Amino acid sequence: MYDEELFAKIREDFPVLKQKVNGRPLTYLDSAASAQQPEPVIEEVCSFLRTSYANIHRGLYDLSENSTRLYDEARQTVADFIGVRDTPTVIFTRNTTESLNLIAYTYGEANIEEGDSIALPVLEHHSNLVVWQQLALRKKAILRWIEIKPDGTLDLDSLDKALSFKPKILAFAWVSNVFGTINPVQEIVRRARASGPVTIVLDGAQGVPHLKTDLKELGVDFFAFSGHKMLGPTGIGCLWGRRRLLEKMPAFLFGGSMISSVKREKSSWDVLPNKFEAGTPNISGAIGLAAACRYLSKIGMDQVRAHDQALMSYAIDRLNDVEGAEILGPLDVTERCGALSFYFKGLHPHDIATVLAKEGVCVRAGHHCCQPLMRDIGMKGTTRASFYVYNNFEDIDRLAEALGQVGKIFPESPCSPGCAGNRLKVMVQSGHHLLGPVCCSSGCCQNDCSDMPSSRALGNTMDSCSPTLRAGRPEPIDLTNIKITPLNK
Ligand SMILES: Cc1ncc(COP(=O)(O)O)c(C=O)c1O
Repeated sequence: MYDEELFAKIREDFPVLKQKVNGRPLTYLDSAASAQQPEPVIEEVCSFLRTSYANIHRGLYDLSENSTRLYDEARQTVADFIGVRDTPTVIFTRNTTESLNLIAYTYGEANIEEGDSIALPVLEHHSNLVVWQQLALRKKAILRWIEIKPDGTLDLDSLDKALSFKPKILAFAWVSNVFGTINPVQEIVRRARASGPVTIVLDGAQGVPHLKTDLKELGVDFFAFSGHKMLGPTGIGCLWGRRRLLEKMPAFLFGGSMISSVKREKSSWDVLPNKFEAGTPNISGAIGLAAACRYLSKIGMDQVRAHDQALMSYAIDRLNDVEGAEILGPLDVTERCGALSFYFKGLHPHDIATVLAKEGVCVRAGHHCCQPLMRDIGMKGTTRASFYVYNNFEDIDRLAEALGQVGKIFPESPCSPGCAGNRLKVMVQSGHHLLGPVCCSSGCCQNDCSDMPSSRALGNTMDSCSPTLRAGRPEPIDLTNIKITPLNK
C-alpha cells in the first residue's frame, strides 16, 4: 500500500530542494534527465573522499586495499539491486550511452555483417538509436523499425514484422523517456525468441529508477543504465551482459587494468569485469551508485512505483483540467512511469519551459534526444515533466498553476483544448511541422477547424500529435493563403 507519509520524510533528504527560485519553492520536475541526490548518497561519497580514497587494484597499502574493497562491494550491491547473481558480469561504465556503445563496438562489430538486420523502435533515445544506425552504416546492415501506436505504446504487430526479417540484434528501451510508456519487456522477449536466434539489448535508463529490476525475469542478453537517473552521481553507469557473450566479445577500450599480459607483439585480456574496465574507473561514482541502490532498496521499489503512480495519476487529472493542455501517451498509469510529456496551446515547448522556470518549475522542453520520434508524431518537441521519489502533489499543483501563467503571458494563443488537436492536425497534414503559435493565430482555429472534432472528443489524446500514425487521415489543408501573425503582435 502506498505510504504517502514516508515520501514526505524522503523529501527532507534532498538538500537541493530546500532552495527558492524567485521567492518560490524550487519545483524539480526533470528527473528523467537527471535525478537529485539524497543526503545519504552525498555523505557516502564525501566520507569516502575524506577518509578512504586511493586508486584501486594496485596499491599494497591499507588505504588502497580498503578502496578496492569498497569498489568491489559497490559492484555486488548493484548486482543485487538488478537481480544479477554473476557479479563480474556487471561492468561499470560512464553511463547508458557508453554501455550501448560498448556493445555496438564489440559485440556488434564482431557479429553484424553486410545485409544483416538490426531491429529497434522509432521511439528510442538517440543513445539507443545512433549507435545502431552507425553500426549499420559501417557494416552495410539494415535497420528494421518498430512503429508505435497512436497512444504511444509499441506496436507489437510492427515488432513481429521487424522480427520476420530475422534481425541479429533487437534493441529497445524499457521505458520511453518521452511518453513514459513501459514496454512489455517479457512479451517482446518471448516474441523475439520465438522468431529465431536474436541478441536482445535493453536500455534500462528510465526503467531502473522506477521499476523493480530483476534481470533473471527480464530475459534479455544485454542491459544498460545510468547512475545519475536513479539518485546516484553522474559519470557512473552499468552494462550487464550474459557471461558467455561478454567472454567471447572483443575488448572495447585498451590500456591499464584490463590486461592479463602484455608483450611487445600482442596482449591478452583479464577476466570479467576487468576486461571491460580499462584505466582508472570512477571509484567514488561506483560507491555513490551503490549508496543510491541501498537508498532505493530501503524505500522499497514497490513503494517507489506506488508513489510514481499516485503522482502520475494526479498529474494527468490536473493537466486535463488546464485549458489547452494535451497529455501524450497512455492515460492508464499502469502503462507508464516517470515522464509525462504534454502539449500546451500550440506554444513552443521552449517558451513554456522558460516561463515555468521563472515560476521555479523545472521541466524539460525539446526533442528529448528522440528526433526520429518527434518527426514521426509531427512535433518539433514536447514539454516534459518527470517525477521521482522527492516530488509531491504540491509540485504538480505548482506546475498546473504556472501553466496558467504561461497562458497569461502568451494571451494570443487562442486555442481551447478541443481546438488544440485540430490545429496540430492542420499543421501536420499540411506538412508544416512547425510547432508554434503562428498557425493558430493565423485564423485556422476560428475558421477551418471549427467543425472538426477535437482529438479528445475522439477519445485519443495522442492522436492530436500523431498524425502520421492516425488511420484515415483527411486530405491535407492548403495553408498557402493563410496570414501568419506573430504571437507578440
Ligand atoms: C531512455 C534513455 N536511454 C538512454 C539515455 C542516455 O543516458 P545517459 O545520458 O546517462 O547516457 C537516456 C537519457 O535521458 C534515456 O532517457
